[in-house]
Amino acid sequence: MFSLQIHFVQEGELGTINLQGLCQPVFSQLEEDSLSITTEIQVTMSHLSPSQVTEQTLSIIKPDAVEQNQIGNIIEYFEKEGLSIVAAKMVKLSHKQAADFYAVHKERPFFQELIDFMTSGPVLVMALEGVDAINLNRRIMGPTDPSKAPAGTIRGDFATSIEKNAIHGSDGPNTAKQEIKFFFKDTEIYHRTSSPL
Ligand code: CMP
Repeated sequence: MFSLQIHFVQEGELGTINLQGLCQPVFSQLEEDSLSITTEIQVTMSHLSPSQVTEQTLSIIKPDAVEQNQIGNIIEYFEKEGLSIVAAKMVKLSHKQAADFYAVHKERPFFQELIDFMTSGPVLVMALEGVDAINLNRRIMGPTDPSKAPAGTIRGDFATSIEKNAIHGSDGPNTAKQEIKFFFKDTEIYHRTSSPL
């Protein structure tokens, strides 16, 4: 006779879900086939708030900031706040690469300007990793429009216009995954945490 339970932790309390009834047909089949389960499986679940989850996000130091020789200064903003660079490369984007990367904006009036600017010089592309990395990176960058970006944010300190705004960062978990994949293979990412997402 087999048994299967899930033990979990929820808000510090231990709980158990008994899957005996649900799994009975599977167990019966295993017994019929004279197979045995010799391993006890324990699944531990806990609810993690965003502030406890390690994430990766994409960051691009744009041609204006590269040209101003601000790469080192900008990277310091990330590392000071606990974000780690887990992948990095310097590239001069082709027109096609820039257009594919910013495809979501292709109907916007500023699209051509954006592509021209992003292909005007080299950029530094990075994957950043840390707890709540996507939101944290957005706070460190400040708003897209530098006239609204407070001093102490990257855009507040380095951007000169909404177009020449020094830095790009992923705006959510799905875009972060897509954007990291756009530039990096899995083997080019050197996670610092033991359980990368
Ligand atoms: P980024 O975070 O790279 O994402 C899209 C970019 O489009 C944005 O930063 C700006 O640089 C650019 N952008 C957004 N709005 C405008 C605008 N009104 N005029 C020119 N560029 C813009």
